Amino acid sequence: MTSTHNRVAVLHGVNFDVLERRDPEVYGGIGLSELERRIELAARELGLETIFFQTNSEGEFAEYLHRAPELADAIVINAGAWTHYSRAIADALELAGLPTVEVHLSDVESRDDWRRVSVFDGLVLAKISGKGPGGYRDALAALAERLGVSGGA
Ligand code: DQA
Repeated sequence: MTSTHNRVAVLHGVNFDVLERRDPEVYGGIGLSELERRIELAARELGLETIFFQTNSEGEFAEYLHRAPELADAIVINAGAWTHYSRAIADALELAGLPTVEVHLSDVESRDDWRRVSVFDGLVLAKISGKGPGGYRDALAALAERLGVSGGA
């Protein structure tokens, strides 16, 4: 039996369901389904499979992380504003115990001071911000390397 460890859960938190309505100067004007389409293409090229999840409910996000080890081998997380204050989400991510890269579309370092804080510090392999949708490709590439997955369609 062969087993491939190439499944990446790509998780979006609060307000990503209305991404196309958020400031286009900051977030690029695309919607979540277009963002996910681009992420899936990049993943396929890297030999990764993706599963996508988005919710505006912090409890649902934590519950998804509880199930994550059964569903995926790695995580890409963009928890939106929860990133900056939700210790509950950080605890759930730690519990998931999967290699994780944190991504932000915007450059969180050069915006409000409070956006510089991340509850995921110390829990993630890398934090990528300010690269728009391309940041997800970099995150997936880092996870492919970590999982020992090379090449794809
Ligand atoms: C974000 C940055 C967060 O500060 C913000 O609250 C978001 C989006 C980003 O992708 O740039 O909701 O995570």
